[in-house]
Amino acid sequence: MCGIVGITSSKPVSSMILNSLRKLEYRGYDSSGIATLHEGTIHEIKSEGRVDALEKNLNKSNLYGNIGIGHVRWATHGVPSTINAHPHSSENVSVVHNGIIENSTLLKKMLLKKGHKFKSQTDTEVITHLITEYLKKNDLKTSVIKMLKRLHGSFALGIIFKDQPDLIVGARRGSPLAVGYGPNENYLGSDSYALKSMTNKISYLNDGEFCILKKNNIDFFDENGTKVNKKILELSSNENNYEKGEYKHFMAKEIDEQPTTIKNCINEYIDKKNNDINIFNFPWKSKEISSIVLIGCGTAYHSCLMAKYWFEQITTFDVSVDIASEFRYRKNRFKKNALYIFVSQSGETADTYAALDLCNKHNMKTCAIVNVVESSIARDSKFVLPIHCGPEIGVASTKAFIGQMLVLYLLCIKLAKNRKDISKDIFNNKIKSLESLSNLIKKTLNTESDIQMVCNSFVEAKGSMFLGRGYSFPIALEGALKLKELAYVHAEGYPAGEMKHGPLALIEEGMPVVVIAPRDEYYKKTISNMQEVIARGAKVLLITNKNKDEIFSENIWQSIEVENTTEDLFPFLITIPLQKLAYYSALKKGYDIDKPRNLAKSVTVE
Ligand code: F6R
Repeated sequence: MCGIVGITSSKPVSSMILNSLRKLEYRGYDSSGIATLHEGTIHEIKSEGRVDALEKNLNKSNLYGNIGIGHVRWATHGVPSTINAHPHSSENVSVVHNGIIENSTLLKKMLLKKGHKFKSQTDTEVITHLITEYLKKNDLKTSVIKMLKRLHGSFALGIIFKDQPDLIVGARRGSPLAVGYGPNENYLGSDSYALKSMTNKISYLNDGEFCILKKNNIDFFDENGTKVNKKILELSSNENNYEKGEYKHFMAKEIDEQPTTIKNCINEYIDKKNNDINIFNFPWKSKEISSIVLIGCGTAYHSCLMAKYWFEQITTFDVSVDIASEFRYRKNRFKKNALYIFVSQSGETADTYAALDLCNKHNMKTCAIVNVVESSIARDSKFVLPIHCGPEIGVASTKAFIGQMLVLYLLCIKLAKNRKDISKDIFNNKIKSLESLSNLIKKTLNTESDIQMVCNSFVEAKGSMFLGRGYSFPIALEGALKLKELAYVHAEGYPAGEMKHGPLALIEEGMPVVVIAPRDEYYKKTISNMQEVIARGAKVLLITNKNKDEIFSENIWQSIEVENTTEDLFPFLITIPLQKLAYYSALKKGYDIDKPRNLAKSVTVE
């Protein structure tokens, strides 16, 4: 979380930094700030809240300078406030930081003893004073090396110096950092998206590296100060993908884009002519893999859970799923023949990255399923399967969830075929049914008016439950997560069969409960569990699929019927009304749908 920008140019930079901060706002929106260097003095402007507030402050007082840094904050140490907003400046330096300095308390004690005075409650301010301290006796490069060696934890940094009119230092450990090359100016940014309107020529710092950025030159160094060479990547520029267009919110646009993203992804992977799935250069033979470990956080974790059901149903692999923040600290018994799959939209999630790093260090087979192909997780995995969704800007993940499930499903059936876990005919049928998925999702998007009708009950509820069995259980978890994060309504996803082991006690008169029950092998069982909650006063919204038979209960409050498809593919369709339920509930409450409170899109702290 948090986004950083730095620009050194031959023209004033504050409005360019502001524009980049807007693009980084998805990473944090508690406060923001800019510092520039002008005529030998560091000037800063900071504001609590959104970048809009910073813009108002900038308009009131000009911020001159051809070199500067900027920051959007997602608070870790210290409340969201102007004082705690970055940059943090001394007379000599100004610092922006993304990450957490774990030994900040110890460093602060040491610096206080040396007479440094602190203004904020942040961990970042120790960096400002530490580098100031080293600069008293060392040149700039030595000071940076010494300072970086003292910091524990994760960080991406941008630093400007009072005595260096054309120079920004960027450094990275754990948190991502990109540099961009422009005409007579160069840039630093938390991601390439922040720099996209200025350049499509990008390099990435590797872990432990730092750079010295001047307007006509960039030097890269390893942690000991030895120069390193960098590849310059040319990114494709498709700015339209980053605009809301006619939509009120990115989330609405991204939900509606799902038929297209499914189609694109299928076109990328399915070889229609040969009825096959193209996964080129997969580095391992299927015999070399005996088990699959799926790892992710939040929504990505839910797509992993979903994949576990598919892998167990369709293949003979031993499959397990892990939440990245748990996996990284457990006593793992690494399995030589396991394939570790890391699922992440951003490819920058700190816990998922740390889990990947751990597996790489143990020389495991690592594969990333990501949306952002230039991300750290993609770069450091041994094999990458992109989900081809295009940029997802809304903080709540929607199209990426569908994309992650699709790629996991494709991988599952491809491996199943290679291992002869399924026959060629079954494989062909599965490919065939995928052909209609995009269209079916398009039709399912039409459940809009049904959803709008039921929203009020969820908006007004004290709490709600989302129940499902089998394939529908991970989707129940995802539906509950969406409602929590967007409409701030307490929502629990639960296996329908578990209700009577405790949570049934929560059910009271009028409580909205979503029951997901496609007519699969679990249908009757789920419907029985549904009756148990209805008998205790719950208002049930049943999500099922279209069928000639009547739904056998008269006591259902509302039902939504999605299109018919195979059992494997129902999870895709059932996800759609749940995304809409969260969207319209948040809309009714007037909440900021694309930037829900306390959250950020890219979780780069653990
Ligand atoms: C929820 C949501 C989060 C992310 C999680 C992992 O809507 O977006 O739960 O899924 O933070 O993020 P990525 O996929 O970028 O690793």
